[in-house]
Amino acid sequence: MNYRTVPYDKSFRNQCVQLMSDTWNFNTLFPGHTKQNIINEMFFTEATILADYSEILINDQGKVGGYIFGILDHTIPGKVFRFWKTLGYGLKIIYHFMLGHLGPRSFVWERAKELFRVIESLESKKEKTDGFVSLFFVSSALRGQGWGKKLMQSFESRCQELGLSRIYLWTDKGCNYHFYDRQGFQKIHSLSSPLLSSYGSEPNGYTYAKPIG
Ligand SMILES: CC(C)(COP(=O)(O)OP(=O)(O)OC[C@H]1O[C@@H](n2cnc3c(N)ncnc32)[C@H](O)[C@@H]1OP(=O)(O)O)[C@@H](O)C(=O)NCCC(=O)NCCS
Repeated sequence: MNYRTVPYDKSFRNQCVQLMSDTWNFNTLFPGHTKQNIINEMFFTEATILADYSEILINDQGKVGGYIFGILDHTIPGKVFRFWKTLGYGLKIIYHFMLGHLGPRSFVWERAKELFRVIESLESKKEKTDGFVSLFFVSSALRGQGWGKKLMQSFESRCQELGLSRIYLWTDKGCNYHFYDRQGFQKIHSLSSPLLSSYGSEPNGYTYAKPIG
């Protein structure tokens, strides 16, 4: 089967969310949600709405086999543009929160605060000159065939063209983080949280950075 990469457009959304949900089920973080798959949908939007870089791996039938989303533009106009983009999305979240679609409001509030604290810590080492990978995924059927490396190398080339200094991302123990160890990334920060996969006595959340040569 031939695969090629194209930029993201909304026609890929359902397939992208489905692929992500097959491996990571974020619905379990908000167990009281009342709308089917709403949490996974929201996590996908959260990870991609600010992205100004995307490459979607598709075959001849338009089937999505993987993707990478990233944020490259750290200029003030870029930030203003992204602020407006997220405003509508923020209102949508408030609407679902108020109607209890995410689960009991007090539980959701406390959990969301904890989640933001974890994400804030994972992003605390990010610098203005970093290219940030916000979502990266290859379907289980295509893993181990070099597609992940290809997607990451294209992202790195774009960062290099723009004069960015590092690739920055965060991940957790439930992800294939050894891929990053293998691809020249360095683990620069770790933390432990029950909201991330495989919580135990060891850290289960990691921040990685790779200098762009
Ligand atoms: C991470 C992921 C995108 C990698 O994509 P992939 O297509 O399977 O990886 P590739 O086949 O391109 O592998 C590239 C290289 O990394 C190595 N590699 C991949 N996974 C590895 C692992 N678990 N341990 C050691 N090396 C690994 C490969 O051997 C290969 O080595 P090479 O440079 O000598 O050729 C994919 O495994 C995936 O989507 N996993 C589930 C979701 C996930 O974890 N996403 C990242 C979350 S932050």
